[in-house]
Amino acid sequence: MTTLGRSTARRKPPHVLANTPFRKLWTAMSVCSLGDWLNLLALTALAGNLTVGSGYKVQSLAIGGVFVAKMLPAILLGPLAGAFADRFDRRMTMFFCDFLRFALVLSIPLIGNYQWVIIATFLVECVNLFWVPAKDATVPNLVPKERLEEANQLNLLVTYGTAPIAALLFAVLSVADDALGNLVPFFAQRETYLALFINALAYLVSAFIILSLKDIPKAGAQAATSTPSVLRQIFEGWRFVGGNRLIRGLIIGMLGAFAAGGAVVGVAKIYVGALGGGDAAYGVVFGAVFVGMASGMFFGPRLLRELSRRRLFGLSIVVAGVVLVAIALVHNLVIVVLLTVLLGACAGIAWIIGYTMIGLEVDDNLRGRTFSFLQSLARVTLLLVVAVAPTLAGLFGEREIRVGQEPVYQFDGSNLVLLVGGLLAVVVGSVALRQMDDRRGVSIVADLIAAARGERFAPESAEQERGMFIAFEGGEGSGKTTQSRLLAIWLRDQGFDVVQTREPGSTKVGMRLRAILLDAVHQGLSARSEALLYAADRAEHVEKVIRPALQRGSMVISDRYVDSSLAYQGAGRALDIEEVKRINGWATGGLVPDLTVLIDTPPSVGLARLGGAADRIESEPLEFHERVRREFRALAAAEPDRYLVVDGTLPQEQISSLIYDRVREIMPDPVPQESEDVTGTIPAIRD
Ligand code: TYD
Repeated sequence: MTTLGRSTARRKPPHVLANTPFRKLWTAMSVCSLGDWLNLLALTALAGNLTVGSGYKVQSLAIGGVFVAKMLPAILLGPLAGAFADRFDRRMTMFFCDFLRFALVLSIPLIGNYQWVIIATFLVECVNLFWVPAKDATVPNLVPKERLEEANQLNLLVTYGTAPIAALLFAVLSVADDALGNLVPFFAQRETYLALFINALAYLVSAFIILSLKDIPKAGAQAATSTPSVLRQIFEGWRFVGGNRLIRGLIIGMLGAFAAGGAVVGVAKIYVGALGGGDAAYGVVFGAVFVGMASGMFFGPRLLRELSRRRLFGLSIVVAGVVLVAIALVHNLVIVVLLTVLLGACAGIAWIIGYTMIGLEVDDNLRGRTFSFLQSLARVTLLLVVAVAPTLAGLFGEREIRVGQEPVYQFDGSNLVLLVGGLLAVVVGSVALRQMDDRRGVSIVADLIAAARGERFAPESAEQERGMFIAFEGGEGSGKTTQSRLLAIWLRDQGFDVVQTREPGSTKVGMRLRAILLDAVHQGLSARSEALLYAADRAEHVEKVIRPALQRGSMVISDRYVDSSLAYQGAGRALDIEEVKRINGWATGGLVPDLTVLIDTPPSVGLARLGGAADRIESEPLEFHERVRREFRALAAAEPDRYLVVDGTLPQEQISSLIYDRVREIMPDPVPQESEDVTGTIPAIRD
């Protein structure tokens, strides 16, 4: 690298906010987000206030209506608006949208009836649908690629970070409105109007910031980035998610957390009203969810570092459910607010862990879709929850529990919804915990106590594998694939649960590694990288296939294992055998087979048995294969108790019966009853 290159590589690029066009756009976005949240609060509160004399049921339904009007456009028109953003001048789109939003929001207090609240809400959301993709599509035009992630983080920060600020502002504005009502009669009895005026103003401010942003390129030059329809995303995502246990657990859990939060938001207005709180109190409860969520997201990853993340994820959802149940039952506003912070924190922890795990566990080419799937599903869940929650609350109505004539406990529809939501979260959390537990057999309580002390709980029994592990080794064409398959059949006949597998290529990642390793195109692959790739395949194989099967108590039969690397990479490629042993010890976590069957065949015989095109290793010269064979034999000779060496030139049945005899000696006793059938078989492969 040249000196110049090095110095540019080292120089820290300026912060993304130092970029004036982006800073402007970001400011407009922050102002709008603040406006959006204020809008949500003011309108739900207004809907409640406008229907205040009409009874609990009508009031609940009215609030539900606002949420539906807010969510519906995104689901119906989302894809259309995305295409719009690619076709028209984005700056003008955003400007007009802002202006329209300003006018629409302003009209709500001026017209002041419930029907218009709903219509205007629906229209504002339709407009938002055009504003948001235009904004999203603009960001990459203003920000260099390497700063995009930072820019997206900032965007996310203002999208959610403005919620608690809006909640606080709303609380203050509600109080100010009361005061103002004494001076200006218009504001009297209209507690939410001031908030709506400020909300409208926010859109107007954004409109002018956008107008001053001349750097936004005219549309048409950019590649189309239209979003696929929500239904399509859901369908594709479902296919992927359905097939993966971990992701399934994560998504179920995250949606559960989302639904719990949604239940609170959906009934908060009525619930707070029943506790004697006004609009200001509603703002506080709403803000509490977000303050909690933000702190959960921030502190969550640092919390109980020694606890398995998967467990923390499931646990936080269960705790969220328990807290929600408490919120449902306690009739004290202060306690409810405190509990709401805790609820938000649990939801925040679940979200951040879930998001990070999806980021880590999902392949790059699927990650975008998984996230968008999650987002679509979250939107639908939220719609359902916030629409159903108040409706359900309304249908249940107000109830009192009486002892004699005395009412002792108030239990309304909103209590019921929160209670049901809480119980649901507990169930969902437990399901997630079970689906993705990575420490099966270890008590959660013991784990938690140890984590609280800053230690990792390591019980002796958990690490104890109950199954049996048999590896087959041998040179090319030795017949080990056939023999391992016959042994699997034989063991199954004895009633064992058998997992038959092979190396390389028994996992998703392994298949790709296998393609690299065996493709004759990669002739120049260095010996060390070859050794590392085989070890990588093995690490994946042990963690994803072998260990889980052994822990279930299965018999695992693997066609090739560590010895292949010692023989092929160590002896064959003349790498230091001790070094190859070390990396493999690390890769497998020290897992050694209970028995290794070496089918010893002279390479001249084995290679002659192969048909078809030779792969990269098969096409090595004869001396290479001789070295491999010698190493296998040396390994077996060093540990006769753990090896069975059979002459590969014997007839097939004779080899089999020698193997069965030996396996019978070490077979666990008694044979487990009613074990499941095939857990994992692989197609026949050439030896
Ligand atoms: P495969 O087609 O599975 O062959 P076989 O039926 O002979 O097992 O290809 C595996 C090839 O990879 C084989 O030529 C041996 C080689 N190999 C190594 O060099 N090192 C290893 O650690 C392993 C597992 C395989």
